[in-house]
Amino acid sequence: MELEYKQYLESLIAWGNDVKQALEQTSISEEDRTKWMEQLDNWQSKIYEQLQSEKVEHDREITALREEGQQILLGIEQRDAYRYTQNSVPYGQHQLPPLPYAYNALEPYISERIMRLHHTKHHQAYVDGLNKAEKALYTGKKGEKPLKHWLREQAFHGSGHFLHTIFWFNMTPNSTKRPSGEILNQIEKDFGSWQAFKKLFTETANSVEGDGWAVLLWEPRSGRLAVQSFEKHQWFQLPDTIPLLVLDVWEHAYYLQYETDKAGYIDNWWNVVNWDNVNDRFQEARKIKWELF
Ligand SMILES: [Fe+2]
Repeated sequence: MELEYKQYLESLIAWGNDVKQALEQTSISEEDRTKWMEQLDNWQSKIYEQLQSEKVEHDREITALREEGQQILLGIEQRDAYRYTQNSVPYGQHQLPPLPYAYNALEPYISERIMRLHHTKHHQAYVDGLNKAEKALYTGKKGEKPLKHWLREQAFHGSGHFLHTIFWFNMTPNSTKRPSGEILNQIEKDFGSWQAFKKLFTETANSVEGDGWAVLLWEPRSGRLAVQSFEKHQWFQLPDTIPLLVLDVWEHAYYLQYETDKAGYIDNWWNVVNWDNVNDRFQEARKIKWELF
């Protein structure tokens, strides 16, 4: 066998091992894991057979092996690409989540034209903008622009990406029209009734000036639900994230002692950070596992 073929087949085996390792490390059902592992094992043993055979291989057979591997991976990805093959979204590699229904599925309430533009143009622009900002902030590609520019970009596009991702999955063509189960119990407990909540949420949405969002929130800090409007969404905020470490830089936090020396206050503050507390918050926060986009 030519060296070139041999190396190529070996690289296919290595690729299969990477996928297996990813499957080992992610939390999926044993049934799924066993199924994918078996497919990968069978595929890899065919490659080993090829490697051991003496006869000269045809391009066609090698190509078939590669395609079989791609089919297996495609099968895994179609089930749930991110959960099954990776544990995080690398900086700058967010992707537009596919809509969980057809573009015309929400008609007549929301037209196909709106859904198509909203998803493929507006949301895609947020994904692209967030990726660009993250590359600048976390992979050292800032260029000439100041840090503040990229923080503003991350907040604007990140808020857009995270909120729209919640929004698409918050909707369905098969709506039951009213809540039930645990969420209904909590709504009744906190707002009195489903109707009272619906009225408050509707009024909140109507109160938004220009661009923004109406949001039903869970407040872990108060153990209850809340309704809030988010004005626009770019005010240096990333919703759907959990703060782990915060530093108050309002003047009231330092002025009596440091007067105009804000930088001195910030420098000194690092001496009083409780990292055990930050670690506790981190360990609690990362228990939340959602699909990655
Ligand atoms: Fe939008």
